[in-house]
Amino acid sequence: MSCSINLKNISYKTDTKKIFSNISLDVSHEEKVAIIGANGSGKSSLLKIIAGLLIQTEGELYLFHNKIDKLKDFKKFRSDLGYLPQDVSDHFLCPTVIEDVMFALRAKGIEKDEAYKQSINILKELGILHLENRNIYDLSGGEQKIVALAGILITKPKILLLDEPTNALDESAENKIIDILNSINKSMVIVSHHKTFIDRLTPTIYCLESSSLNNIN
Ligand SMILES: Nc1ncnc2c1ncn2[C@@H]1O[C@H](COP(=O)(O)OP(=O)(O)OP(=O)(O)O)[C@@H](O)[C@H]1O
Ligand SMILES: [Mg+2]
Repeated sequence: MSCSINLKNISYKTDTKKIFSNISLDVSHEEKVAIIGANGSGKSSLLKIIAGLLIQTEGELYLFHNKIDKLKDFKKFRSDLGYLPQDVSDHFLCPTVIEDVMFALRAKGIEKDEAYKQSINILKELGILHLENRNIYDLSGGEQKIVALAGILITKPKILLLDEPTNALDESAENKIIDILNSINKSMVIVSHHKTFIDRLTPTIYCLESSSLNNIN
């Protein structure tokens, strides 16, 4: 089966601390994989390694069967990866919601009118059209999270890497996200502490511990 992501014996250490070691994971084409684990177990660090924001201290990472050794190797895959950070507060590039969501499409050369139309559609789909002209930095944490997700989904990346996509979201917003993610056939790695949310997305759940990533099903 064709794989989008392969991690082979990945370890990650900071200057002072070993976070995890010998982690292996294969994510197939269009497979959704969830990762749970205790606070500080390294879930966000692992997602950042896959997203090209950190480099592992040991082990091998492959994206679409291409070995990634350096941050430079991510360049040609950057637009294939849609990464939602755990903390989105410094994720935004434009002052208003509509400008920020349009920005990613404009950067890909899409005309302003078309970018606007698509942005309005994703805001509607996510139930946040009423936020269109709001200043991003006046939004609540949950509102910011869903706007950040809109800006990622709109570019239709081949792989979605979502770090706690529903933390701070109310039930209605969470349900909308579940519907949207279930309607998208893409490879996804979803980090979450919300077991009920994960169970509605995928049966493939791993638990990250210091030296293992165990399938818990
Ligand atoms: N740059 C860094 N320098 C030192 N320690 C770091 C650094 N980055 C992360 N850590 C530590 O690595 C560990 C793993 O952090 P990480 O954010 O990956 O955990 P997590 O599993 O996502 O936790 P949470 O569930 O709280 O989000 C933590 O103990 C954190 O303090
Ligand atoms: Mg985290």
